[in-house]
Amino acid sequence: MRARAGQGRLEKILGIETSCDETAAAVVADGRTILSNVVASQVKLHAPYGGVFPELASRQHMRDIVPVVRQALADAESDWQGLSAIAVTYGPGLPGALLIGVNMAKGLSLATGLPLVGVSHLEGHLYSTWLDGEPTFPYLALIVSGGHTELVYVTDHGQVKVLGATRDDAAGEAFDKAARLLGLGYPGGPAIETAAKDGDPSALRLPVAVTESPFDFSFSGLKTALVRALERGYRSADLAAAFQLAVVRALVGGLERAMATHPAAELHLVGGVSANQALRAAAARLGLPLRCPAPALCTDNGAMIAAAGYWARRRGRESNLELEVEPGLGFPE
Ligand code: KG4
Ligand code: ZN
Repeated sequence: MRARAGQGRLEKILGIETSCDETAAAVVADGRTILSNVVASQVKLHAPYGGVFPELASRQHMRDIVPVVRQALADAESDWQGLSAIAVTYGPGLPGALLIGVNMAKGLSLATGLPLVGVSHLEGHLYSTWLDGEPTFPYLALIVSGGHTELVYVTDHGQVKVLGATRDDAAGEAFDKAARLLGLGYPGGPAIETAAKDGDPSALRLPVAVTESPFDFSFSGLKTALVRALERGYRSADLAAAFQLAVVRALVGGLERAMATHPAAELHLVGGVSANQALRAAAARLGLPLRCPAPALCTDNGAMIAAAGYWARRRGRESNLELEVEPGLGFPE
């Protein structure tokens, strides 16, 4: 029997996410209410490498995906008949990692008759702010994570204009590389943020890169500057504080320039780096209402995928068993 979203019934969607180093599944009702949110993090597995090791990630997703999905259903006290659809991340991300989630979702769709909806990891992050609020369009959002640094203008559901992106390293990647240089461990973002608390950012000045487009970012020069400063013998805490300040200035500068040309009702910060308090504080000073997800929803999770799947289905998106992974995917309509 094919389960369908009936009249007056909550639309419960199972969201599956395996694009990077988190195996995640969640059940969300009507794109808003989280009924369960299970995340098996691989952070410890990748820590010795100072970054995500793709082959290891795929193998761990294989081990974790079935128990994680089972747990998400159990926590939501739902059976398959209680669901309306299965949403899954099909890009962007690591090809081998994405494949585990997509194949799982396809198998489940085939076995249960539930419709399948493919979701972009980026629109997933964007919808993390819809899980505990009712945003007002239009808004400017920064998607800042280990793999992404996108500045986008969102005028409606499915209407996302990418204004700018990083020319080299992603913001989170920059934090991870800097932490490795400073011997602070992985993941680098939280490590730098903690170290920076005891540091004086004005002890040295790190450059904020200028890019051709006012909405693009570049972090590789900053990394080189950090290497030089390290050789000059600055304190680790001061280096961490100056580095964090330079990244925050670059990101918030992009938002500020975008505000001048794109009328916005709100600002959103999403993705792993949006957990950074210095970034939040600087963005809050720009003068528009600021929306950031709860800490557990900043990093990769299945709930944001289920929420994005809900809104995509309302616009008529439906995938089928031919859904293929798209490692370079952007924002589907
Ligand atoms: O969204 P996410 O879990 O995974 C990707 O899609 O990449 O983001 C992980 C990234 C890592 O690079 C991590 O260092 C960074 O987010 N991050 C932070 C903080 N917490 C996590 N960066 C800066 N400050 C933080 N507090
Ligand atoms: Zn992510």
